[in-house]
Amino acid sequence: MPSIEFLVNSIGRAKRVDAPEGGELVDICDEFLAPIPFSCRSASCGTCHIQVLEGVEFLEPPDPPEAELLELLGGGSDHRLACQARVKRGAGAIRVRAVLGG
Ligand code: FES
Repeated sequence: MPSIEFLVNSIGRAKRVDAPEGGELVDICDEFLAPIPFSCRSASCGTCHIQVLEGVEFLEPPDPPEAELLELLGGGSDHRLACQARVKRGAGAIRVRAVLGG
């Protein structure tokens, strides 16, 4: 079962959760009250910008709308939108931090 660790930040405590196989990251964040902020939930605002410090290979690749916004936001291939990312089946440990303010 995939595990996801969310690092502490100014909006919440660190959290490590067991995630469902093939789950939407946004649903996991909602269910476990992860310290990741959301607004539009549709790859438009960038509020949910995260950096995946470990296990980015365990997330499905970004769809075009996510990839387009990530290009505007900057960062690298380890940056994702938590409202769009999906956890792959058979995933292992994933570690993320919110990129607050962008
Ligand atoms: S919440 Fe707006 S891009 Fe994810």
